[in-house]
Amino acid sequence: MSLIEKCIVTGGAGFIGSNLVERLINENKHVTVVDKDPDRQPFISNYLQLTTFKFLLNDINNVEVSDFDDDIDTVFHLAASADIKESLKDAKLDLENNVNGTHNILEIMRKKDIKNIIFSSSSAIYGETDVIPTPEDLGDIKPISLYGASKLAAEAFITAYCSLYGMKSWMFRFANVVGKNEHRGVIFDFVKKLERNPNELEILGDGKQEKSFFDVSDCVSGLIDIPMMDTNILAEIYNLGILETTKITRLAEIVCDELKLNPKFRYTGGDRGWKGDVPVTILSIEKALNVGWKPKYSGEESIRRTVRYLVEK
Ligand SMILES: NC(=O)c1ccc[n+]([C@@H]2O[C@H](COP(=O)([O-])OP(=O)(O)OC[C@H]3O[C@@H](n4cnc5c(N)ncnc54)[C@H](O)[C@@H]3O)[C@@H](O)[C@H]2O)c1
Repeated sequence: MSLIEKCIVTGGAGFIGSNLVERLINENKHVTVVDKDPDRQPFISNYLQLTTFKFLLNDINNVEVSDFDDDIDTVFHLAASADIKESLKDAKLDLENNVNGTHNILEIMRKKDIKNIIFSSSSAIYGETDVIPTPEDLGDIKPISLYGASKLAAEAFITAYCSLYGMKSWMFRFANVVGKNEHRGVIFDFVKKLERNPNELEILGDGKQEKSFFDVSDCVSGLIDIPMMDTNILAEIYNLGILETTKITRLAEIVCDELKLNPKFRYTGGDRGWKGDVPVTILSIEKALNVGWKPKYSGEESIRRTVRYLVEK
């Protein structure tokens, strides 16, 4: 019997969650999605008729023990406020969704004796570290956004629950995930701006920000395959991304090349796109590679695939 047979996916109607659900359904797993956003339902509407699929339109802060079926083995916990810029407008958002929400999910797991939690954390927890590529065991962790702080706090709660209540957790700190069902982020932003004005592209910051962009299918393979390959753990943390990085100006050039456009680039200036943005993020992925995970797509391929998806959808 596999580790994952009957699972909950919080945030399963979102970008990464819906790609995860697609693979789980294709592998005949029983899936219950908890998501509060009815606008995201199109990403999962194909599964609503399946007997192996359930959708709970609810906030993770409001779900209760009685909402979850018996015999659930695994919770993929992806529901979160995932936009650093939003937390600049409302300083309680990340605390409520990402910390309190995680705590409620952990409490339900404890009461229902659900043993496995697979969590979507973020490279944002590392803040502006000088240690590049950044390994999971970096001691000096100083987030610079409320989002990064909330993910670090959630990791700490998950770790404590594992130690206290016999659960296991695999926590994944993602780099920038791109691809099918993307509905925000820099590639989405560039494509939408160029649809409005193909002659000029506004680029936030100075364009020298450097990040790794990896395909959502590789992210999903990390979330499912690494827990299957690395079972003898208590609370393990893995970075997920690719080593190849792309500067934002280069990313803009790739987007324009895919769209066959040649706009003038206009920079808003400064070393970052917004407050809380980390200008250079490069994660060490050695740990994930060592357990046998391998991303299929390069950064450039992932960016090009995303542009094609956004144009064709
Ligand atoms: N996309 C990335 O590059 C990236 C990078 C690092 C980490 N992550 C993490 O991966 C996860 C998924 O991100 P995504 O990019 O798919 O974002 P997304 O916004 O598309 O998905 C998040 C989903 O969670 C739901 N949600 C949010 N708060 C909720 C709540 N309180 N109750 C119920 N549902 C709630 C939203 O409705 C949404 O459908 C998040 O935890 C995010 O922090 C994403």
